[in-house]
Amino acid sequence: MPKLKLITFGCQANDLDSERITGLLLREGFTLTEQEEEADLILLNTCAIREKAEHKVYSRLGSFQALKRQRAGLKIGVCGCVAQQEGQALLNRFPYLDFVVGPGQLTAIPPLLAGATRGVETARAPGYSYPVNAPVQRRSGIRAWVSIMEGCDRFCTFCVVPFTRGRERSRPAQDIIEEIRGLKRQGYREVTLLGQTVNSYGSKLTPPISFVELLRHIDQLVGEYMRIRFTSPHPSDVTVELADAIAELPSLCEQIHLPVQSGSDRILHRMKRGYNRDEYLEKVALLRARAPEIAITTDIIVGFPGETEEDFRATLDLMQEVGFDSAFIFKYSPRPHTEAERMPDQLPEEVQGRWLEQALALLNRLSLERNRSYIGRTVEVLVNLEEAKGDSGRHTGRTRQNKIVHFAGEGVADGSLASVAITGATPLYLQGELVC
Ligand code: 5AD
Ligand code: SF4
Repeated sequence: MPKLKLITFGCQANDLDSERITGLLLREGFTLTEQEEEADLILLNTCAIREKAEHKVYSRLGSFQALKRQRAGLKIGVCGCVAQQEGQALLNRFPYLDFVVGPGQLTAIPPLLAGATRGVETARAPGYSYPVNAPVQRRSGIRAWVSIMEGCDRFCTFCVVPFTRGRERSRPAQDIIEEIRGLKRQGYREVTLLGQTVNSYGSKLTPPISFVELLRHIDQLVGEYMRIRFTSPHPSDVTVELADAIAELPSLCEQIHLPVQSGSDRILHRMKRGYNRDEYLEKVALLRARAPEIAITTDIIVGFPGETEEDFRATLDLMQEVGFDSAFIFKYSPRPHTEAERMPDQLPEEVQGRWLEQALALLNRLSLERNRSYIGRTVEVLVNLEEAKGDSGRHTGRTRQNKIVHFAGEGVADGSLASVAITGATPLYLQGELVC
């Protein structure tokens, strides 16, 4: 049987695409291998969000040249966002590459493999790309990604996503419900709904349906048996209805990843984010008023073109004002086709590096403070032994707020719910003891 080595970079959408690619290729008779030396097919599922991610792909590809010479019949393919962005240019640059497939064209992989010539498949059909009956080979038996929409229409000036993943397309609600019904039947305990701006789901479907309506349908189906999360919402589409749903629906976890990107009105405007600082803070206040248990995390970019010390201070200030539970903080990276790439006032790496360190130091303090507030409380943890790092007698799971908990105790099963008394905290996780 031919062997597949699949290498995945990037975000959750790519993780899910890799599970789809695996499903498609197992159906074609492939088995999986970790060793590239014994692979008959090496696939790179790539990310283009920042320059560094893209460079990783090229250096990995470069390392396959010798292997291709040694192993007759070895095929090498590139999928994902770099494939979409570069297309034919990748085949020109890497003569030993066999095919290039964009993220909306995964089902083209088996026919491309069967073909005798090198190929590029990056054309995008209208509508949601992945057929409802096509396979998905999930890595976990407990937690599943479920895509509800693809692409993005917002065109923030720093972001390559609208170019790589295309315009916003929502998946029919019935297909989503069917997939989740199947996951429930298979014993999954958690579903994370995925979309680039997940909470703008459904407005262009006929008939239109809102994200919150979809959440309510899903909740009716899974009730308390499953935990539902979603990522990533756009702040502008956070509504009273969504805040109420988080507070009311038993399945919907008290957690939101709400990318703010900057705390400075001037920079938010240059980023074309569609909200200002006060509006973002109002959304946070709304969420906390309706769902006081909610944990809020975010994405932040430092060193955007033209950003001043004062702008950066405004970001630190906003971080403090919100008191984020956690955050991903990135140095701005210029991306092809984007407006920000053409802005004249790009900042030196050294300034970006300094700001990144300062922001991370503040985040560390804020996360520790938030996590410490759980000490003395008993929380519900969904046990996930995959996340435990081999330390026997210590288990790992996540709270409804998506906080990692390491805890001691006997006899907990993977995928079960455990009550854990929290006894300690670090910026990254909670520590505790099993109650029952
Ligand atoms: N440079 C740095 N970070 C970026 N992100 C998106 N584009 C860029 C870029 N050009 C970050 C944003 C986004 C997250 C997924 O990646 O913070 O929310
Ligand atoms: Fe990129 Fe902005 Fe769309 Fe998010 S909302 S995917 S940052 S363009």
